[in-house]
Amino acid sequence: MQSDNMYEINNDPRLLNKYIDCNVYYENEGRFGLYKKKGVAFDPYRMKFGKHPDHLYISIHDRIGKVKNEAKRLNTKLARDIKSNPVRAKQRMSEVVAVILSEPRSEVLEDMKDTIDIIVDEYLSSPDVLKNLTRIYVKDYSTQLHLTNVMLFCLGYANEAGYNNDDMKLFGLMGLLHDVGKVDIPDEILSAPRKLSNDEFETIKKHPRRGWQMLKECNFDHTIPTCALEHHERLDGSGYPEGKKSVELSDYSKAMSIVDVYEALTTWRPYKDPMIPKQALKLMVQEVDDNKLDGHIFKEFVHCVVGLTDKNDTIQSLRYR
Ligand SMILES: [Fe+2]
Repeated sequence: MQSDNMYEINNDPRLLNKYIDCNVYYENEGRFGLYKKKGVAFDPYRMKFGKHPDHLYISIHDRIGKVKNEAKRLNTKLARDIKSNPVRAKQRMSEVVAVILSEPRSEVLEDMKDTIDIIVDEYLSSPDVLKNLTRIYVKDYSTQLHLTNVMLFCLGYANEAGYNNDDMKLFGLMGLLHDVGKVDIPDEILSAPRKLSNDEFETIKKHPRRGWQMLKECNFDHTIPTCALEHHERLDGSGYPEGKKSVELSDYSKAMSIVDVYEALTTWRPYKDPMIPKQALKLMVQEVDDNKLDGHIFKEFVHCVVGLTDKNDTIQSLRYR
């Protein structure tokens, strides 16, 4: 039985009343209760031949348990793959983020901490792991892949800037969660291989506030929701959603803006090919000169990129403020 075939009931009493007289079916493990509408035929014989009802239902409590179990299973695989197979490890990271974002409630989002612990612990014992993971080229785009890439660059930046291990984990979590507010935005908009309409762009611009709302309910350091809220702000006040200026923004948010822009420029998107690091950094110098991005943080970020990428692809003597 695939979870794709299951639909949730929620705690709305009107809906519960609707399904209160359903027959109950339990999965083989007997751990989670699935529900079907009364009168729909379903038994082990039909299941054997894949003839299950089109719609099954699972309680929110069981759904959360199932997602957390799946995240735990993928984290176990990640811990194994990260030591031997960077390509598969990066895929695992992306998978665990996708699973967690499929049920982005506080008790599920907090499981991202386990993923970050695995990656940072491996990085501290084997620094090349970050280099290997950031060099993997994928011609694909999804929010989970973007979050994974940003997380890896956040870790590299935090290390380069001299943050301690706890702050490094904080940066990693910020990277994995900064765009969590995109969960409500349809894929047709996020992956549109064309210029967005004004209305579509207005929809996109809602994600920082939505992310902040979701993350402030979690048991995270306050910098995590703040960073989700501020990562599209710019020093001169030209960003969104609030048009905050430099003095109102935390260093964490300023760093996240830089990592986010760099990741967007250097990875594939349905509407563009990736830039090489040197091109992207040159473009970003202009953003620093225009008082959009922080020059001091950018300088540290450049060192991070030089350390993580092929030196022939990067520029080591950029002009920045
Ligand atoms: Fe964003």
